[in-house]
Amino acid sequence: MILRKIKLINFRNYSKLQLDFKNNINIIIGDNAQGKTNILESIYTLALTKSYRTTNDMNLIKFNQEKFIITGEIKDDKVYKKLSLEFYKNNKTVKINDNNISKISDYVGNLFVIISSPDDLQMIKGSPNERRNFLNIEISQLSSNYIKKYNEFNKILKMRNDYLKLLYTNNLSDYKYLEILTDNLIEREIDIYIERHNFIDNINREISDIYENITGIKNLKLIYQPNIDLGDYNPENIRKSLKEKYQNNLQKEILMGMTLYGPHRDDFTFKIDDKDIKIYGSQGQQKLAFIALKFSEIPIFEEKTDTKPIILLDDIFSELDKKKKNKLIQYIDNDYQVIITSNDTKDINKKIVDRANIYIINNGKIIEKGGS
Ligand SMILES: Nc1ncnc2c1ncn2[C@@H]1O[C@H](COP(=O)(O)OP(=O)(O)O)[C@@H](O)[C@H]1O
Ligand SMILES: [Mg+2]
Repeated sequence: MILRKIKLINFRNYSKLQLDFKNNINIIIGDNAQGKTNILESIYTLALTKSYRTTNDMNLIKFNQEKFIITGEIKDDKVYKKLSLEFYKNNKTVKINDNNISKISDYVGNLFVIISSPDDLQMIKGSPNERRNFLNIEISQLSSNYIKKYNEFNKILKMRNDYLKLLYTNNLSDYKYLEILTDNLIEREIDIYIERHNFIDNINREISDIYENITGIKNLKLIYQPNIDLGDYNPENIRKSLKEKYQNNLQKEILMGMTLYGPHRDDFTFKIDDKDIKIYGSQGQQKLAFIALKFSEIPIFEEKTDTKPIILLDDIFSELDKKKKNKLIQYIDNDYQVIITSNDTKDINKKIVDRANIYIINNGKIIEKGGS
């Protein structure tokens, strides 16, 4: 898949911007705070209808304006598609080829992006919630079943939590309705657990080799940490474990007024030889672990979607030594469309720069276009 162009209107610090991208390497150069990341963020937002940098869409509108529009033109095989996302008065409208799409799940999955950015580090250090968000976003791009089940799960979870509170405050002992909610919840949870488990399993087929190739360190592994024992991820067994868990903890959940077990309490961590890198890893190791994770996703996306994802690399080369940079480049050198941001072309391998399409930006405007 290729992103041929993107147009922004009142997005972040851009009043109006149009960029054409080349099939292979594109580089966006600029000093700090000029709007490099904003461009990658706009592409990501066009793909997923929300940003990874903020949960409040209002922040994406240019100061003192009332709406933003992102339009992109993609080409997949020989098919062209125009995607657009408009945000106005707290309303998001998405279109494919100028036709309104009412269900977000019918829209997401048209443009596939994998982004590696400095914000990723926050995901290692931050709360489990951020890591669950990551899983949700990535798996949503790969599976419409996941989006569906996850949305249903959230609705039922809220109903179940409300009902648990009601049981407590009204001192009821009618558990029939709770049982129905619990059974409904469990059915969605099974799918979510299995999809997350499979995704992490697929990552683990790739990540150790990639990490070793970049850093020389062996045995990096992503460990899925659900808060109940799910054994071999067989649906029957998961159903049984969940039922038992909810039965045994009924009074506790009523007392707390919330569902204490389920995928909304999941986490994952990176381990090297069984040592958690959150605890033992250096900042550099943590950063590279996440880069390796993102690079591991490339073949998974390709296999599941039958197209090559667009790779967005935000400032990933700046602090790396030359050897590591060259190793990283190997993974993107060939047939992927890549959009890289950097302060300076000096930070990027010259062979790459020589073939790239380059934009230099300053304060929300293109000041120079260059490259081959
Ligand atoms: N909603 C907004 N409206 C206008 N400017 C914004 C908005 N959000 C962020 N900015 C500006 O965007 C700039 C940061 O852009 P960013 O893409 O993160 O920079 P960098 O080039 O360092 O990656 C800052 O100057 C910030 O003030
Ligand atoms: Mg930036």
